[in-house]
Amino acid sequence: MENTIKQMEQYAKKNNIPIMEHEGIEFLATYIKNHEVKTILELGSAIGYSAIQMARINKDIHVVTVERDEKRYQEALKNLKTTKLEEQVDIYLADALTFSTDQKYDLIFIDAAKAQYIKFFERYKKNLKDDGVIISDNLKFHGMVDTQERIKNRNTRQLVNKIKKYIYFLEDNDEFSTSFYDIGDGIAISKRK
Ligand SMILES: C[S@@+](CC[C@H](N)C(=O)[O-])C[C@H]1O[C@@H](n2cnc3c(N)ncnc32)[C@H](O)[C@@H]1O
Repeated sequence: MENTIKQMEQYAKKNNIPIMEHEGIEFLATYIKNHEVKTILELGSAIGYSAIQMARINKDIHVVTVERDEKRYQEALKNLKTTKLEEQVDIYLADALTFSTDQKYDLIFIDAAKAQYIKFFERYKKNLKDDGVIISDNLKFHGMVDTQERIKNRNTRQLVNKIKKYIYFLEDNDEFSTSFYDIGDGIAISKRK
């Protein structure tokens, strides 16, 4: 298992695939253990790294994860096979903006296209158990959210603006209260009020 995890990290680095930072994974794993999380919906599987890290915590955990990029999806399938976690992780090749599930989850982990975070939140909040949480990653966007004035590239600036909008959306939300953590690339945990 440890070897496969290392190989996934190397593959991600080599192919420029953004996967969760160690600090973020540890934070997520601690939350899952402490709150006895059993059912997880993840938006944005990439090569299955975070799904595998969550599923391997214990055998009772079940992860549904969605990825729209075929190559990454195939790589994730391969990694699930190698780690023998296929039974615990269901991966779908689909766009999270149109994918749908009837199930309710203890934890929804948003880690797909940053520009769409509000849409993902609104689309999947109905799939959250009453005492469940929505966790969002990359709210610092590699530190750029705090240093926006210095960003030269227009697309990057627009993306950072969208992340800021998402942060305001969470801060100003009638239904959910959110705690922000300066961990990894910036993580938020939202719970129903
Ligand atoms: C940051 S990576 C996910 C990393 C992964 N959670 C991990 O830590 O191992 C984001 C992934 O979301 C996928 N993605 C972006 N928008 C999506 C969408 N609308 N539906 C499904 N997948 C999407 C991208 O193709 C990319 O692989």
